[in-house]
Amino acid sequence: MPNPSGKVLSEGKTKIVRETERSDVVLLEFKDSITALDGEKKDILRGKAVINSHISAYLLELLEKNGVPTHIIEFIEPNMMRVKKLNMIPVEVVCRNIAAGHFVKNFPVAEGTPLNPPVVEFYLKDDARHDPMLNEDHFLVLGLASREEVKKIKGLTLKTNKVLSKDLKAKGLILVDFKIEVGRGTGGKIYVGDEINADSMRLREVGTNRILDKDVYRKGGSMEEVLNTYVQLYEKILGKKPPIGGTQSG
Ligand code: TMP
Ligand code: ASP
Repeated sequence: MPNPSGKVLSEGKTKIVRETERSDVVLLEFKDSITALDGEKKDILRGKAVINSHISAYLLELLEKNGVPTHIIEFIEPNMMRVKKLNMIPVEVVCRNIAAGHFVKNFPVAEGTPLNPPVVEFYLKDDARHDPMLNEDHFLVLGLASREEVKKIKGLTLKTNKVLSKDLKAKGLILVDFKIEVGRGTGGKIYVGDEINADSMRLREVGTNRILDKDVYRKGGSMEEVLNTYVQLYEKILGKKPPIGGTQSG
């Protein structure tokens, strides 16, 4: 893989953020690492960076085309994106169409129950505190965002849900839930940032209800099963084999 030269601004669990020649643009380099349990479970999944960066670029561009402002500028082969530099709000915004994961853990609702209307939730990004849930007042007292911004973020999330659900459904996938992250660009405008892929969505195959996301890893699947899942999701969303070599898609 090419070795980008910009100074490293930050490094997270799945991406490295680098400076570019422009102060308002950064380069995101996706990594092959996969984590769960707030980083306690960790592995290297060869090919994941290429797969997840392509899927993210595709979905962010799809959102852009449908009127949701996102940070993407361009995808750079094999695993990078040039994006608008945002002032990220340290919050995970979750949207749920069907009960799963923490929702069934926290509430007396059976897994698989459709949620109508879709439920939007906010969590503070803080692995050490296991990402506590936030309400609108928390945004204000913690200095995270204004009431108006919270309303805007919720609106963007629901629009994102509509656009993603429709596109994925046409590809035989049910969007159970997903997580996005948002930030402020120039003039304080709110954009969808970060990444959207098998790490940050729950997806089921129409008909079989087969899991096609990071739950395979969270639930203890072998690394071969996990890679196969990511490869199959790539093939369903992009309609071709991922450029990672080998015969992993078997
Ligand atoms: P949850 O049910 O575990 O709260 O997850 C809801 C959605 O958010 C699911 O699609 C996975 C995604 N997610 C992340 O992207 N990062 C996280 O740290 C967590 C907890 C969930
Ligand atoms: N993103 C979190 C982690 O890496 C948890 C998760 O996605 O389940 O630890």
